Amino acid sequence: MSDIKNLSLFRDLPYINGKWVDCAKTVDVINPASDSVIGSVGCASVQQAKEAILCAEQAFYSWRETTAKNRSLILRRWYDLIMKNQKQLAKILTVEMGKPFDDAMGEIAYGASFIEWFSEEAKRVYGDVIPSYATNQRSLVIKQPVGVVGAITPWNFPNAMIARKIAPALAVGCSVVLKPAISTPYSALALAQLGEQAGIPAGVFNVITGDANKLGAELCSNPIVRKLTFTGSTSVGKTLIKQCADTVKKVSMELGGNAPSIVFEDADVDHAVQEIMISKFRNSGQTCVCTNRIYVHESILDEFVSKFSDAVKGLKIGNGMEKGTQQGPLINKKAMKDVHKIVKDAVKQGASLVLGGKSHSLGHSFYEPTILCDLKQDMDIAKQEIFGPVAPIFSFSDEQDVINKANDTEYGLASYFYSRDIGKIWRVSEKLDYGMVSVNSGILSSETIPFGGVKQSGTGREGSKYGTDDYTVIKHINMSGI
Ligand code: SIN
Repeated sequence: MSDIKNLSLFRDLPYINGKWVDCAKTVDVINPASDSVIGSVGCASVQQAKEAILCAEQAFYSWRETTAKNRSLILRRWYDLIMKNQKQLAKILTVEMGKPFDDAMGEIAYGASFIEWFSEEAKRVYGDVIPSYATNQRSLVIKQPVGVVGAITPWNFPNAMIARKIAPALAVGCSVVLKPAISTPYSALALAQLGEQAGIPAGVFNVITGDANKLGAELCSNPIVRKLTFTGSTSVGKTLIKQCADTVKKVSMELGGNAPSIVFEDADVDHAVQEIMISKFRNSGQTCVCTNRIYVHESILDEFVSKFSDAVKGLKIGNGMEKGTQQGPLINKKAMKDVHKIVKDAVKQGASLVLGGKSHSLGHSFYEPTILCDLKQDMDIAKQEIFGPVAPIFSFSDEQDVINKANDTEYGLASYFYSRDIGKIWRVSEKLDYGMVSVNSGILSSETIPFGGVKQSGTGREGSKYGTDDYTVIKHINMSGI
């Protein structure tokens, strides 16, 4: 059931300049639901990374000369092929990452939506004509591809985070060297295979699997790479920004989050419970936009905790390939232990355990969905990104106070709140220091919106009509003598 090695999209070598290249070393890839080895994947050397970057540079010179319509058609074909192979891609994803198969199907469609979107945006990368300061002079602005892009992507969305970066880059005429997470390489390599079938020319999209530190350092320091895009933790993001400084690269960073979900006294509690279930337990709590702190008005606290606990008790935990599974394992045992430490420390600091609080009887890296109450703002759990199925519930009594608490974090990615008071909805939306605010909904992501954060959650925006900006540079053309 979990064997993916005989699938036609299964590849286990880096893809450089249109070829699957042999490597001196390999590394095992583990299925987190069974702790068994799926296969091994080739580890590109630093020399191979340099070659990939050189090939991407050569390919860039011809790719940028193609018409927007031509790039658009290739991206559209890629989208069609991904959707045609949705089940196979979802199976690869579930087996290497652990998320339930239905969620993996959703992720493939989500990832493909970025490719479809940017196949359309490719034709809309417009410039400007600026009213002149002199009668014999004209000023034009054109947008051009930034050049070779280095992309480093995470394991939590092994397909969609790649598509969200590669599609805008290719749409505007950049070439890419991608380093996917070493725990989930097969989704990336399958995408490369479909990209080749769609007609992406050799060298335009390269995938180097292998050691994160060495390959990441090469992508950041190599002067040919003109832009680095990364999704992952804030601490790794800071290291990459520093590594990019010497060659003054354009960077975009989609980093950690500490999302508040605020339930005001006038909210529809049943609806809030339903939406927070999604924003908290999506991907077993392993998304940067997952609810990390739940603030509930004291007047509805008991009702909320009771209804939320009932919903959490109903979650079906299991191997993502088993029908009906809603919560898979965490990515590995270390992740599970890290989450457990956060829970243990919170309890030590005075939190009370309402549900869960320990590793799941299924073993491996499964963790019980957990609810904590009686929390204070100065506890460590209010500051940390949990990245697991743990829901800490705080109570509050005052609007401005809860806004201050929600903003009391170094992060600023996603935030959520629940209210039916239109005045409050405007006030709170404007005062939350976050790149994204979602009102009365636990889902905010789609290809149509600008996804990204403020503060230490990063810079740049992915998706939407703004999504191509991170892959272009603005050129001013001054015309005189007119
Ligand atoms: C993330 O966790 O970084 C991505 C989540 C999303 O796209 O909704």
